[in-house]
Amino acid sequence: MKFFIDTANLAQIREANEMGVLDGVTTNPSLMAKENIRGEEACRRHYLEICSIVDGDVSAEVIATDFDGMVREGEALAALHKNIVVKLPCTADGIRAVKYFAGKNIRTNCTLVFSAGQALLAAKAGATYVSPFVDRLDDICSDSVGLVAQIVDLYQTYDYTTQVLAASIRNTLHILQCAEVGADVVTCPLSAIKGLL
Ligand code: E4P
Repeated sequence: MKFFIDTANLAQIREANEMGVLDGVTTNPSLMAKENIRGEEACRRHYLEICSIVDGDVSAEVIATDFDGMVREGEALAALHKNIVVKLPCTADGIRAVKYFAGKNIRTNCTLVFSAGQALLAAKAGATYVSPFVDRLDDICSDSVGLVAQIVDLYQTYDYTTQVLAASIRNTLHILQCAEVGADVVTCPLSAIKGLL
């Protein structure tokens, strides 16, 4: 299983990388804002900084919610660095954009996934990763780990190559539970990774 760190904080990314177990990074607009990274140019510089620290996939999320905007932003993000993965919401426009980027061999992370139906659409469209939101599913009394297991099984049934990237993880136990059901990747805070010790 791959370990991604779910932060835009450079110090934490460096610390996780120095642990020797880091395979990549996921960010989102909230995590970028938390580091006071605002504006397209500042974001681009920050993504390049992250890519200079970790030799692994770095998910950079589009802000736009319409197809044309997602394409415009995603192409600019993908052009930044070979390790940038364009992160797109699992909406009608987002799935359309996943398909568009798949046709251009630009890797994508279909995020904000809360159901197996959404995960099927993401794989069908050719997403590189799908991100079911584990803790936010728990927050609404939904069986989050059961969903991860269901997606893993569905993808194996149809030999989909889309990787299941368990996201919205806030505690160490969820790392273990997602590993037990076969998630390809977990993305989580440094504290959760260190909690495995
Ligand atoms: C990662 O790709 C997601 O954006 C992140 O895990 C979401 O976490 P949250 O539920 O704390 O927003």
